[in-house]
Amino acid sequence: MRKKIIAGNWKMNMLPGETIEFINELAPLVKNTENEVILCVPYTDLFYAILTAQGTNIKIGAQNMHYEEKGAYTGEVSAQMLKAINVEYVIIGHSERRQYYNETDETVNKKIKSAFANNLKPIVCVGETLEEREEGKTAEIITKQTELALNGLKNDEVENIIIAYEPIWAIGTGKTATSDDANNSIKEIRNKIAQIYGQNVASRVIIQYGGSVKSTNAKELFSMSDIDGGLVGGASLKAEEFSKIVNF
Ligand code: PGA
Repeated sequence: MRKKIIAGNWKMNMLPGETIEFINELAPLVKNTENEVILCVPYTDLFYAILTAQGTNIKIGAQNMHYEEKGAYTGEVSAQMLKAINVEYVIIGHSERRQYYNETDETVNKKIKSAFANNLKPIVCVGETLEEREEGKTAEIITKQTELALNGLKNDEVENIIIAYEPIWAIGTGKTATSDDANNSIKEIRNKIAQIYGQNVASRVIIQYGGSVKSTNAKELFSMSDIDGGLVGGASLKAEEFSKIVNF
C-alpha cells in the first residue's frame, strides 16, 4: 500500500516569524496522522522551518533549485545548499515556474537528477492547460511531461519520486478536477511509468493531485484508488485548514 503524502506549497508567502508560529500551531494538530506531512516554504524561511519542525512529524521542502552544484548563477540555490541545511524535499517543475521562469522538461530532468545526487526527494509537477484539456490532449501532455522528467533515471530513483498531477486550470482558481477525472489522469501517468519502468516500479510511485485542494474536497480526492495525497497551495497557508486536509 502506498502512503498518502500531503505537501503544502506556500509559494511566495510567509515571513520567518509567521513560519515559526505556523509550525508551532500545526505540529500538535497533525502529530497523530499516518500520512506524511511536508511544508515547501520560501528559501528565506527554510532554516527557521527546519529548526522549528525538529522533533515533529513535519518535513520541510524547498520550491525550486538549480541543477548545477555551484558557480556563477547569481540568485540561484543548488541542491547541495539545500541539503546542507537538512532540507528533505524540493518541488521541481511547478507550472508557475514553467510559465514565468522558462522551466522546461529538460531543466526539470536535470534538476531531478541533481536532487537525487544530493539525497533530496523531488516533488515533480506535471499538468495540462485548459486549452490542452479542451482539445482532448490531457493524457498525451501529462504522460509526455512525465516521460521527459524521468528520462535516464534508475528504477530505484523513479520509485522514490513524488509526482504531483496539477491541472493548470485548477491551480488557485477554486476549480477542482472531479475525483474521477483526477484519478484517471493519474492512472495515465502510472501506466506510462509502468510501460517504461515496469509495473512494480509504477505501483510504488506516489502520485499526488494538486489544484484547489481544500478541507472540503480532500477526503473525496484522496480516497480515490490512485491519488496518493495532494500538493496544496492556498489552503496550506492556514494551519487549521491545512491540518484538516492532512487528517482528511
Ligand atoms: P492551489 O495551488 O492549491 O492554491 O490551487 C496548488 C499548487 O500550485 O501547488
